[in-house]
Amino acid sequence: MENRGESQLQERLGRRLLFFPLPLQGHINPMLQLANILHSKGFSITIVHTKLNSPNPSNYPHFTFFLIDDGLSENSEASRNDIISLLTVLNVKCIEPFKQAMSELLADSSGDPIACLISDAILHFTTAVCKSLNLPRLVLRTGGVSSFLAFAAFPLLLEKGYLPVQDAKSAEPVKELPPLRIKDLPVITTSHPEKLYRLVEGMIQETKASSGLIWNSFEELEESSLVKLRQDFQIPIFPIGPFHKHFAASSSNLLAEDHSSISWLDKQAPNSVIYVSFGSIAAIEEKDFLEVAWGLAKSRHPFLWVVRPGLIHGAEWLEPLPEGFLESLDGKGHIVKWAPQLEVLAHPSVGAFWTHNGWNSTLESICEGVPMICTPCFTDQLVNARYVSHFWKVGVQLENGLSREKIEMVIKRVMEEKEGEEVRERVVHLQEKANLCVQPGGSSYESLKSLVNYISLF
Ligand code: UDX
Repeated sequence: MENRGESQLQERLGRRLLFFPLPLQGHINPMLQLANILHSKGFSITIVHTKLNSPNPSNYPHFTFFLIDDGLSENSEASRNDIISLLTVLNVKCIEPFKQAMSELLADSSGDPIACLISDAILHFTTAVCKSLNLPRLVLRTGGVSSFLAFAAFPLLLEKGYLPVQDAKSAEPVKELPPLRIKDLPVITTSHPEKLYRLVEGMIQETKASSGLIWNSFEELEESSLVKLRQDFQIPIFPIGPFHKHFAASSSNLLAEDHSSISWLDKQAPNSVIYVSFGSIAAIEEKDFLEVAWGLAKSRHPFLWVVRPGLIHGAEWLEPLPEGFLESLDGKGHIVKWAPQLEVLAHPSVGAFWTHNGWNSTLESICEGVPMICTPCFTDQLVNARYVSHFWKVGVQLENGLSREKIEMVIKRVMEEKEGEEVRERVVHLQEKANLCVQPGGSSYESLKSLVNYISLF
């Protein structure tokens, strides 16, 4: 009986899942982690991907890859610096190539039959394609639930006059969306705010029309937001994160990781280092970059700083840094282009993470019990930072511009004062919850079981 049940399950699991990640680092990582998780549950995996930021198949010999033409030329009208235009253009230019790819994959009878597509929420055009081919479509939203609810509230925020944001520094509360203030609303500085509204509307509508919604988050972290989400979105909801805690996944980094980060950390005292990274997209002005450099130096704490090429507007890499800057710090500073971030955050020498609060970085910091200093740049980062500093209270926010004095002060608050100790206690407590939720009986473990059963029935 037992064996028969098992073989029936195997039969159901002998199915192929198609994944379509948004081609940005912060979206590719969780999508490929999810693919790994579902592969470990018995599904075959095909990753449909664009030429832009295409993943390296050799890191995933257990997956198959299907390249589609994204229609973006090198000097495309959607500049990589204008992220909203890029996402808008992808939602148009990918329609035909994606449709062709889906038809080809569905017609191919040589492999396991296809159960469904799992699409990034932002690639909302995939709904119409899947519908025309009668293929179930699940959505992965790679950000947090709380920021997603703020996006879903855009029509209300427009109606009430909060949007377009008139004063991006306003600390007035948005009473419809506590604990957010006007300055925390998930917008981006752009001369075409209506483009953002249309993109968000597409994401929300087509998520509502999907067969289910998967989250790289967990019940204990975003409980109240998940309650609200379930009221407003009448589709199956699967919070199964933190993805990377299910098992250690292979890296999907687009830039080479500099492992001198780890050998340098090995030489530092426990909990002494500030790890600084603003993720894969955010860029800062040269004058802010210099304030960051001098603020770190003035704090006298050792720091590991990711300065991605392209981080500083108008510079290739470190040219704006004064000559001899690092040398003058007697080994207290180490700068790399890209770090193995999960390993860095897990390193005992790291005492705080100065972050832009992309959702992956936020979750990774919580998972390693590392207090945050929050400097969000745009969209969901603004909401995440507010939750980190005022809801979970596992970090402090550095607000209203960067100056070396303020930077020095905020680092001291986190690294030396009682406030920092309390923040650390709270983040360690959340870390424990993150560890437990992926264990048998834990909320994400159980939710993953439901997801596997659900997909198996397609
Ligand atoms: C983007 C958006 O900016 C963010 O708002 C959204 O939540 C996700 O997409 P990004 O800026 O790349 O994300 O930040 P984040 O979500 O933190 O993702 C960055 C990923 O790159 C993380 O998984 C992090 O571990 C990894 N990383 C970053 C490295 O491995 N090394 C580095 O040096 C920096």
